[in-house]
Amino acid sequence: MPFVEWLGTWPGAVLLQRSGTAYLFVNAAHIVSIGLLIGGILPLDLRLAGLLRGVPLSVIGPFLSRSAAIGLALAVVTGLWLFTVKPREYLANEAFLWKMALLALALVNIAVQHRNHHYRLALDGGAVHRSVQLVAGCSAMLWLAVLVAGRWVGFL
Ligand code: HEM
Repeated sequence: MPFVEWLGTWPGAVLLQRSGTAYLFVNAAHIVSIGLLIGGILPLDLRLAGLLRGVPLSVIGPFLSRSAAIGLALAVVTGLWLFTVKPREYLANEAFLWKMALLALALVNIAVQHRNHHYRLALDGGAVHRSVQLVAGCSAMLWLAVLVAGRWVGFL
């Protein structure tokens, strides 16, 4: 697979392969991004699912959704960078493949939530429809599963 071989040779990958300090900082950036993602999506999902109450969704909803989106974008960029350090090994790592599959499901779940007009109504302060609650519950479980799979990668 020439493209996979090439990924391990781009300057960003070579930098991380040669410098433990550079690897440390990109790895730390990946973790900060995950913190921003999970720190936004989890309270939002729990609020939507009805397990957290007391704060109006119209106040926290758009803010948490945006900060989670920024965290996701940064996690994807830093994650892909880490991936290029040893792409062949990661593609042979069962936990990594699980993580990518769960990530794909979590992204599809986001698309489902955002296409539901009841979601917009809920963020505008309306009642939270059961379909929105259900998808929010799936979202919380999927993102936690991606997190655990990400941690699992290093153990295989
Ligand atoms: C395209 C997206 C992503 C890619 C390609 C990616 C790739 C990687 C890679 C290559 C590592 C280093 C694994 C190792 O050798 O131990 C890693 C670590 C990790 N990733 Fe991701 N990642 C992505 C997104 C995410 C997301 C969205 C999450 C969480 C929801 C996440 C959670 C983790 C965790 C918990 C670790 C372990 C960090 C540590 O203990 O040092 N990743 N990721």
